[in-house]
Amino acid sequence: MIGKAITKLENYDALVIPVEEGKGILIELPEAVREAASLAAADFKGKKSDTKVLTMPVDGKLVSLVLIGLGDGSGILKDRFLAFAQAAQKCKEVKAVRVSVLMDNAPELTKCPFAKEKAVEAFHLANYSFNEFKSQPEVSSVEEVSFLCADEKAMTAAVEEAANCAAGILKTRDVVNTPAMDMTPEQMASEARKAGAFCGFSVKVLGKSEILSNNMGAFWAVAKGSAHEPRLIVMEYHGAPADETSIALVGKGMMYDSGGFNLKKSMTYMYTDMAGGGAVLGAMMAIAKNKLKVNVYGIIPACQNILSRDAYLPGDIITAMNGKKIEVDNTDAEGRMVLADAITYAFRVCKVDRVIDIATLTGAVGTALGKRTAAYMTNDDCIRQLIQKASRRACEKMWELPLDEELMPSLSSHIADIKNSVGASSMGGGSIIGGLFLQEFTDNKPWAHLDIAALAGAEGGYIPTSPKGSTGFGVSLMYHIVKQLEK
Ligand code: BES
Ligand code: ZN
Ligand code: ZN
Repeated sequence: MIGKAITKLENYDALVIPVEEGKGILIELPEAVREAASLAAADFKGKKSDTKVLTMPVDGKLVSLVLIGLGDGSGILKDRFLAFAQAAQKCKEVKAVRVSVLMDNAPELTKCPFAKEKAVEAFHLANYSFNEFKSQPEVSSVEEVSFLCADEKAMTAAVEEAANCAAGILKTRDVVNTPAMDMTPEQMASEARKAGAFCGFSVKVLGKSEILSNNMGAFWAVAKGSAHEPRLIVMEYHGAPADETSIALVGKGMMYDSGGFNLKKSMTYMYTDMAGGGAVLGAMMAIAKNKLKVNVYGIIPACQNILSRDAYLPGDIITAMNGKKIEVDNTDAEGRMVLADAITYAFRVCKVDRVIDIATLTGAVGTALGKRTAAYMTNDDCIRQLIQKASRRACEKMWELPLDEELMPSLSSHIADIKNSVGASSMGGGSIIGGLFLQEFTDNKPWAHLDIAALAGAEGGYIPTSPKGSTGFGVSLMYHIVKQLEK
């Protein structure tokens, strides 16, 4: 079991010692390792991303000391989060089974309200591997991680909250890592039903006929090329009285994105184009399991964007659920099509007060911000504050891009109300254009768009919490957005 609060050291074969810069070892260690630890700590400054591992025999077995530097606390919480992830990685490398983390050696960190939970979460995340299709599964040696902390009550709460958040994040990784042949729209719906039964939220799934009867023309246009019928997955969690504020999390569920007739040059990893939808599923699990006192909808328009005789064509003019007519400039700009109708559905049918959508929407976002920061755009000051705070608490970096009205003319169509993308005469700003398009489907209500295209997958290795593949980015962020809405 990863995560257990303790006040007295028990059995361990690795001791993780977080060191705040310049503070060394502050707590009394067991006699058997005391001397070795003080030698190891002598020249260990505790600067951020410093680590040191020392393995020695104690009472006939090997014990490892893993020192991690937390810096002087002036940096962002993410630096300290990554230090714990690095510690977890080291524990795996030395094949430790039972790990104890000496939280009391980091007094500033343990005082910080969101840090303990993140420290625990790091151990859950770093222990993950996706073994579904491996004959020889990669199994981490680490089976038990206990957190020594004098404030037992707070630590126990952090352990529990982190376990529920991590379970959501890891479910997201599982569904995103599963290829399209297995993770069809219907399979995604069944994952949501399972999660709902387990975590405590209800799930309604709309099929082709209900999608059509709701006039979701933009969603259907993308979906109709595939033999796998689309699903509109609507998860509903009630944590507060019905008359209190509500939010919808809307995630792009493109179970495959070939580009359609505007066929992509490279389709590598395009089965992960449902990472926004996957993150919404994971966030709903974390929210419900931790019983947040908020009313939350999780909505995933799930379909495949593929080539067939039935697929939509460049030049087609589609009527969206809100009545706007969209000229299809490019069939590869399909995420905004399905999200347009899902956002309308959230406001008009679920009648929520605000919507956050999350999507792997544009390749351009990686060019704009790099692969460590995701973009958001919003029409609302309050949501802006929620996102900025959540970003720090979740240790998921977000940066705002402007919804620059001056770029709107590039979406104007000579034949319909709006185009879904900008052809050759581009004014640039591909990610902003995506946001501007979506804004047309918000009924001018409070809304934000998160573009996670550059963060959803890791090349492996360089994010210590995630192996190659899905990162689960966005789950923690949305969890912390929703948590701030608690009364
Ligand atoms: N799913 C892609 C965006 C994407 C690209 C995600 C690379 C992850 C990695 C999206 O549907 C898409 O194709 N966007 C186009 C938009 C363009 C046609 C306006 C893009 O980014 O090129
Ligand atoms: Zn696309
Ligand atoms: Zn896409």
